Order: sequence, then C-alpha cells, then structure tokens
Amino acid sequence: VLVLCLQLHRISAAERCQLHHKGENRQFPEDFAFGVSTAAYQIEGGWNVDGKGLSIWDTYTHAHPERILDRTNGDEAAESYHRFEQDLAALKALKVKFYRFSFSWPRLLPNADTTVINQKGIDYYNNIIDKLLANDIEPMVTMFHCDLPEALNKFGGFTNDIIIKYFRFYADFLYKTFGDRVKKWITFNEPFDYCVLGYGRAYFPPLVHSPGVADYLCMDNTLRAHAAAYRSYKAKYFKRQGGKIGITISSRFYYTQRGDKHTIERAMQYSLGWLANPIYSKSGNYPQLVLDDIGNNSLREGLAWSRLPPFSEFWTKIIRGSGDFLGLNYYTSRYAELSQPPIGEVPSWEFDSQLEYTVDEKWKQGNSNWLYCVPQGLEDILKWIRDRYDNVEVFVTENGWSDYGALEDTDRIDFLQAHLQAVLNAINDGCNVTHYSHWSLIDNFEWNMGYTQKYGLYYLNLTSPHKERIAKMSAHYYRTVIESKKYYR
Ligand code: NOJ
Repeated sequence: VLVLCLQLHRISAAERCQLHHKGENRQFPEDFAFGVSTAAYQIEGGWNVDGKGLSIWDTYTHAHPERILDRTNGDEAAESYHRFEQDLAALKALKVKFYRFSFSWPRLLPNADTTVINQKGIDYYNNIIDKLLANDIEPMVTMFHCDLPEALNKFGGFTNDIIIKYFRFYADFLYKTFGDRVKKWITFNEPFDYCVLGYGRAYFPPLVHSPGVADYLCMDNTLRAHAAAYRSYKAKYFKRQGGKIGITISSRFYYTQRGDKHTIERAMQYSLGWLANPIYSKSGNYPQLVLDDIGNNSLREGLAWSRLPPFSEFWTKIIRGSGDFLGLNYYTSRYAELSQPPIGEVPSWEFDSQLEYTVDEKWKQGNSNWLYCVPQGLEDILKWIRDRYDNVEVFVTENGWSDYGALEDTDRIDFLQAHLQAVLNAINDGCNVTHYSHWSLIDNFEWNMGYTQKYGLYYLNLTSPHKERIAKMSAHYYRTVIESKKYYR
C-alpha cells in the first residue's frame, strides 16, 4: 500500500510538473543571483541595418523559408535593436540581478575579422551595457549564440580550424572594447546543438549532413577556440579587468528503468561529458569511455573508428582548466537503454553511444515536442557535475518552458518553481551553483519553430507596430522570488 501511495503521489506531482519538497528550507543564499537570458538573432531584428554583416541564420531563413514552421525569420523579431528601452523596462520590473544576452558577431565585425569594425554595432552594445549598469543589472555576455558570420561559413565554418584564430581575434576585440564593464563572459552557447544539428544532421544551418565526422570536427574546433579565447583573456586582460570566463553546455540528465549506473554514466559522458570533460576534468581530454569507443584508432569490422580528432599535448594543456565556471542549459531529461547501432548505418553521435532514448509518459510535455518537465533531472545533473568536476562553480544559464503564449501561464510558474526547488536542493547538497537565468525575457524567434513556441516571461505583441512586451503571470511570480530570494508555491 505504501509503495502504491508513493507511486500515485509521484505521478500526480509529475503531471503538475512539480518536484517533491525536501525539508522546509525555501530560502536561497543571500548572494545567489537571478537573471534572464536572450540571444541576438532571436530578438534583435535589424538584420541589415547600420553596417551589420550577414550571419548564417540570415542567409538560411531567406533561402529556405519553408524550413521554418511558420515561414518567419529574425529580420525583425522583437526589434530589440531599436527597442532596447522596452527590454530594459521589463528587466527593471523583474528586478533581475543580471541579464544574459549575446553579441552578434557580424553586427560588430561584418567580415568576421577586424578589417571592418562597425561602430554602430559597438554603440548599440555600449548603450545596453551602460544602461544595465546604471540600473544595477550586471551584463553577462555570450560571445557566440548560433549566428556565425557568413564570411566564415564560406571557409567551412566550424569544420575549418582557421575559426580558432578568428574567434580569438573577435574575443580580443570584445575584451578591449567592453571588458572594462563586462565581467562575466560565455564563449559559446550549446556547441552540441549547433555542431550536431548544423554539421551532423543538416537540421540547422549550414545544413551539412555529415554525422560523426563534421559535427565532431565542429566540437573539436569549438573546444580549441574556447580555450584560446580563455587563455588570451587570462594573459592580457584579467589583471586589469578581473572577470570570469566559461562556456555554456546543454545537457539532459539520463535515467534508466532499472537504475543501471553504467548506462547512466555512458549517456552522461556522451552528452555533457563530451564538452565538459576536456575543460573541467584533470585529463584535459574527451571522457575515457568515449575515447575507448571511438577515439583510439581502433579497428572494428575493418573500419577505423577514430573519427574523433585527438588533441595534441599542446592543446590538452591549453584546454585543461580553461573555465572559471560551467554554464549549464537544462530543459529536460530522458531514459536511456543500451542498444546496438543498426548494421550498415553511418555511425553518428547517438549511434556511437549505443543507447536509445525514450521518455516517461507521465512527464508533462511543453509546446516544444522534445520538452518534458523533469525538475529532478536538474538536481541530479548538478550533483553529477559536483562529483565529476571538483565542484566547479555552475551558472544555470538557461532553463525554460514553451507554451502557446497565454498571459495566465500557470504551467510556466509550475515549471519555474519546481526547477528553482531543484537548484535549492542541489545547493543544500553542497553544489556550487551561484546563478540561475530563466529562458527567456520575452517570446522570441525559436529557430526552425519560428514564433510558434513561446518561452517568454513577457508576451511579445508581434503584430503591433510597437511590439509591446506584456508581463505574464510568471513574470510577477519570478519577481516575487527575486525580491524575497525565496520560492513559494
Ligand atoms: C537553448 C538555446 O540556447 C536557445 O537559443 C533556445 O531558444 C532554447 N534552448 C529553447 O529551445
């Protein structure tokens, strides 16, 4: 009977997207920081004004409108390029301590290199940074969030290691121009996603279909570009500017029906570990489990399985320890089970892991078909990071829920409170989490899903000439949490 009661209790909590409360402590530490996140292409608009160069998302959405669910693009989006004041009003109303936004590389450097520096782009971001600081909101800046300059795409984008050099120049330019005021830097956002979806599965631009080859190269070059930018900051700017640099990695947590630890570890190492292990573990290399499978030039059935480019000793030293914090984007989780790759299939990222991924039908589903509410996964992933990477400081840089845009968004409130509780549980278990940032400030352009999936705490009136931002119920809820540093339900 007890087991049955517990089971029923668990189901109803999951349906409501809740996490079971542990103890009575609902208070976050005094210095814990709450914020919200956005990204340039998803909100700025102004795609071709004031000297901005093209990004691969400009060219892709224009060449393939049929690939975007509602045939829209980011040409105008929320028009944040012209309407930052409206974003600022929303940020102030929320009382956030920081705002995570991204720089558009082609808005600042239209040719990707420093041959042309776009002063209008600099002015735009200077205004944002100065106004934020004047309102006691700290800027947290992502240097790259999907919008690769078309100028670099012409050279093969992330598959050409010339990108390491270009990214380091870009990063240097950013430190010089904005580093007196920006103290929290994120080099790359979600490399898995732009590498695997952009270079493996041809789902995102640049539409390369090369699973297990180009996507691996992309991740390899991303890791080296990240580390090069990190070392440059430490060598030349840190002494005067004193900021922190990390990378943002997306990951799910993985469960198994029978709680088999080896499978969980395998799934985690093939996702979060792939990018985190080289930077945050002592090895400075891909996870051993991954190397044993595909990284050692081993022969299987006559095929060389080392599509994973090995790091030289030089790069291992540069990459190891190249993060002051780990940025985590957490949205959902999965069940993983061992399976065999189909015979004759080109091995790819997921086949390499020899796992199959499923969901629990009791998990509540959001408007995005991949998004299920699993708050326990956030607590578990934070503990996994604590135990693998010497309790490195973690910023939860994104976490959010998609719906159809209702102002009375009680589901988003449920999602938010359950995930805040997960963070607090993790903190109470010794995890070094210091920042939480909700995705997103306003409804925005959700990549191939266009404007059909709404993630905002603020509703965006897309059809009105003023593009008003209107607070949803969740914005009021979040503000109360931020003010009291306490979540309630
Ligand atoms: C993570 C990405 O960084 C962001 O761009 C996207 O909108 C959200 N996930 C929701 O899918």
